[in-house]
Amino acid sequence: MKLLIFRITFLLILISPVSAKFSGSFVSQSDTVIQDTAAFVSPYEEDNQRCFKCHGQSKYSYTNESLGHEIKALMFYERIVRKEEFYKSNHKSFSCTDCHSTEYATFPHPGELRMEAKLNCIDCHGGDETYHFDAITEEYEQSIHFKLEEDGFSCYGCHDPHTYRISKRTKENIKETIAYDNAICLNCHSDYNHFQLLTDREEINVIRSHEWLPNQSAHWANVRCIECHTQINENIPVAHLIKPKKEAVKRCNECHSQNSMLMASLYKFESKEQRRDGFFNGIILNQSYVIGANRNEYLNILSLLIFGGALLVIGIHIFFRIRKENNKYN
Ligand code: HEC
Ligand code: HEC
Ligand code: HEC
Ligand code: HEC
Ligand code: HEC
Ligand code: HEC
Ligand code: HEC
Repeated sequence: MKLLIFRITFLLILISPVSAKFSGSFVSQSDTVIQDTAAFVSPYEEDNQRCFKCHGQSKYSYTNESLGHEIKALMFYERIVRKEEFYKSNHKSFSCTDCHSTEYATFPHPGELRMEAKLNCIDCHGGDETYHFDAITEEYEQSIHFKLEEDGFSCYGCHDPHTYRISKRTKENIKETIAYDNAICLNCHSDYNHFQLLTDREEINVIRSHEWLPNQSAHWANVRCIECHTQINENIPVAHLIKPKKEAVKRCNECHSQNSMLMASLYKFESKEQRRDGFFNGIILNQSYVIGANRNEYLNILSLLIFGGALLVIGIHIFFRIRKENNKYN
């Protein structure tokens, strides 16, 4: 019971900025982006409505032709595609039947459609140079999840084709990005049903696995799971090579130090010039105070000067004391 309350609070902390955003009550700098997408009108609005009529919410109805009257039923949770999220996602300009067979327009859906092969990200995005799909795919294929492919894991395990929206990481939306990205992992790592679909392994309790980390809630709100679990790659904005747990970052000073690795991952969007002379640390400090990250060269010199100064004063003091003592006996 205690554990359950723990997990719920944990989830709430993590997803609150995201869910608040979707309900429209969260005011942030990135609202302009949201407004743009809210104004989006799909050329397939009407077409898609044929599907949303049933898949857009938890209830649907259809006319049963044998019985000759209307039947109401519940749409399974996992089969719901939320309309407002779809029209904000990367693939908002698509028609449902661009990716799904047009035969889905008939209901009941023909059984053989279940066997239909699905396009993978790389089928459409191969050769892309903006988002480095090929490099990402290569990394994914070396990551610990890849062995679960046969059981149904794929890019879609983390990127829902209907709701995934890319976030342009900026100083302003960093907290929101952290919450969004962590919710991706927690979709399986705090939901045993999803986890169990893919493995026979016993449930992993993420809270307990990270007990060594002090103040977990502060860390969950300020760093992403991928910071500690992936191998940093200079050439891709979001590293996808998730390493075995033994290789995850555990040393505090990987982040809590002048040369914080967060600069190569979470804060990568900042230009390298800004990073050079300690100014970059100032940005982290504005966002969140990372203990140790504010040590810069000038402060080091200053503290040496202060230290040296103090030694000098003590030295002078001792010198005069000795002279005074000597004078006493002369
Ligand atoms: C009258 C209601 C209704 C309409 C209209 C409808 N669906 Fe469905 N759909 C369902 C129900 C119920 C299920 C779950 C049962 C099943 O698989 O048949 C389902 C299942 C699905 C599945 C999952 C199949 C699987 O592999 O399990 C897909 C994909 C799908 N629908 C796509 C569509 C698309 C695309 C459209 C629009 C062109 C559409 N549906 C229109 C009711 C509907
Ligand atoms: C960019 C391609 C793409 C578009 C556009 C798309 N889908 Fe899908 N859809 C997929 C893929 C891929 C899956 C299988 C996901 C998986 O394996 O987890 C899927 C799965 C589904 C499912 C099964 C439940 C699930 O989430 O696994 C339903 C229902 C569905 N889609 C309905 C729709 C409807 C309705 C629309 C239009 C509003 C739509 N899809 C638009 C690619 C797409
Ligand atoms: C059926 C082909 C198809 C599939 C499958 C597909 N995409 Fe896309 N995707 C597109 C197209 C086309 C666009 C551009 C849409 C537009 O500009 O309106 C796009 C846009 C995007 C964007 C936004 C780019 C931008 O500049 O805003 C991202 C990110 C993206 N896709 C990621 C993915 C990921 C991740 C997957 C797999 C989980 C995937 N896509 C699967 C065709 C596809
Ligand atoms: C274990 C989870 C996971 C898997 C599996 C995964 N991704 Fe990602 N991916 C993420 C996360 C987390 C992000 C960061 C989300 C964001 O802020 O846009 C991301 C971001 C991306 C981006 C945007 C990069 C950018 O420049 O912002 C692309 C493109 C992408 N993934 C493609 C893929 C493709 C293709 C696959 C399959 C080969 C894949 N991903 C598999 C978790 C995953
Ligand atoms: C679609 C479900 C799903 C998602 C999403 C997911 N995982 Fe996993 N993950 C699993 C499963 C299942 C396992 C257990 C694999 C096994 O059988 O060993 C696992 C295992 C792990 C392990 C343990 C590896 C080991 O050495 O034992 C780590 C670490 C991990 N995941 C991190 C992440 C991170 C970080 C993310 C988000 C970027 C993520 N996962 C997203 C399903 C998922
Ligand atoms: C500060 C770094 C850090 C962060 C942030 C972090 N992890 Fe971990 N994680 C680790 C380390 C280190 C281990 C290995 C712990 C051990 O073996 O004692 C681990 C272990 C795990 C495991 C394997 C646990 C097991 O018992 O098999 C999973 C799954 C996992 N983490 C998922 C996540 C998810 C999901 C998130 C984001 C909510 C996350 N981690 C955030 C460092 C981190
Ligand atoms: C992946 C990077 C990362 C790692 C690894 C990491 N931390 Fe942190 N830690 C952060 C960030 C970012 C914050 C900022 C939180 C804030 O603004 O309060 C933080 C905050 C803290 C805080 C202050 C929490 C508060 O009360 O505000 C403490 C204490 C702390 N970390 C200790 C540790 C210790 C001890 C370790 C090693 C066992 C560790 N951290 C490992 C990134 C990290």
